[in-house]
Amino acid sequence: MSISEKRAIVLAAGMGTRMKSALPKVMHKIAGRSMIAHVLAIAGRAGFAQITAVIGPESGALEDEIGRQVPGARIAYQEERLGTAHAVGMARGDIEETDDDILVLYGDTPLIRAQTLTLMSEELTRADLVVLGFEAADPTGYGRLILEANGELAAIREHADASDEERRITLCNSGVMAFRGGVLPGLLDRIGNDNAKEEYYLTDAVELAKQAGLRCAVVTAGEDDVLGINSRPQLAQAEAIMQGRLRAAAMAGGASLHDPASVYFSFDTKIGRDVIIEPCVVFGPGVSIGDDVVIKGFCHIEQARIAKGCVIGPFARLRPGAELAAGVKLGNFVEIKQSRVHEGAKISHLSYIGDAEIGCNANIGAGTITCNYDGFNKNLTKIGEGAFIGSNSALVAPVSIGPGAYIGSGSVITKDVPADALGVARGKQVEKTGWASAFRRANAKKGK
Ligand code: UD1
Ligand code: MG
Repeated sequence: MSISEKRAIVLAAGMGTRMKSALPKVMHKIAGRSMIAHVLAIAGRAGFAQITAVIGPESGALEDEIGRQVPGARIAYQEERLGTAHAVGMARGDIEETDDDILVLYGDTPLIRAQTLTLMSEELTRADLVVLGFEAADPTGYGRLILEANGELAAIREHADASDEERRITLCNSGVMAFRGGVLPGLLDRIGNDNAKEEYYLTDAVELAKQAGLRCAVVTAGEDDVLGINSRPQLAQAEAIMQGRLRAAAMAGGASLHDPASVYFSFDTKIGRDVIIEPCVVFGPGVSIGDDVVIKGFCHIEQARIAKGCVIGPFARLRPGAELAAGVKLGNFVEIKQSRVHEGAKISHLSYIGDAEIGCNANIGAGTITCNYDGFNKNLTKIGEGAFIGSNSALVAPVSIGPGAYIGSGSVITKDVPADALGVARGKQVEKTGWASAFRRANAKKGK
């Protein structure tokens, strides 16, 4: 069988009560993607493309999320939470179906790295069972890894069952375990619940494996990589760790971040080279940025494509479907939604552009609004190449401004304007000579 056919069992039946949330815990997001989706993606990258997720009953939204991430993923339900070995047992049919290695992951441990899982796979060529351990700053609550003199793993002792001496061990179990093909079913059969919590502990598999003459090994990861999330503060901690990684990756890829700690990326943000990102910029999912782009401070950008050499902001907002071609300039307080802005166009101040197509080198004056919504439908505005829209114009869609046309400032444009024409639609100006001084005189008399 090829490496990509290996199966991961992802445990996600936890209630997550400490999150105090209507959402299943693993549906909470880190860098714009649910924890469970992170875990599934990492498993896939490490060659564990077959997935069985063990979830609680009535977790429809979670099931949908798993299906979106891994079409064909299998779902096993754990009605009663009787422990991690019991949870893995819910996937028994899928485990028995294969002679391939099996990986057990937790859905609430989303910062694990694919290369760590690959190391575990490699270790499985020498061992029958591999546990991912870490050095805990505070080991309280974790299972402790008990090693033999030769460095092999002898047992995992849960905190509640550990002696004082064992509790002094700081090398802990992350929960991630890998089993050589075929060994897991026999071990599951022998796991009981004779322990402090009366749970079926997957960690007991280690001692049972030793008794059967199998070899158990440890691979280690950094504590940050194996952070499990049970509460909102831990969610925030995971977000901070993930953002640290994404900022580092952006800079390693050739972007300059003036104040990295104030820039928030999404898990999938794509950034070219020689991009400059000023402070306080937030990227939602689905953003790609070409080379030589400058993003000035306080921009918010989601589901948008920004081509080479654009200059954006400060204070610009790009919403889903914003597509900027090369060399576009957007200034302060400009919002773009579901619109294509072609090469070299400028929208420099205080504008809303929605459901529009803006031609090459068009100049959109300050305060231009596309009136795209009539309460029922979204309507299109088309602005031709090189058109010039005077400041404070309202373009009532559907409407089309021809290439090279001018729109007089303050116009409310409700009809198409042909190429190279002037469209103006506003009250005619009148001047009344001496009106102001007469007005002031009249009011000054009243005041006496
Ligand atoms: C577990 C490990 C412990 C390790 C720690 C790391 C066991 C017995 N202990 O302890 O050695 O140091 O994780 O965080 O495995 N789950 C289910 N169904 C269940 C029980 C758990 O799906 O019946 C899932 C949970 O949702 C969670 C994961 O398994 O994602 C771990 O469960 P949890 O209760 O947090 O285990 P710990 O007691 O923390
Ligand atoms: Mg836990």
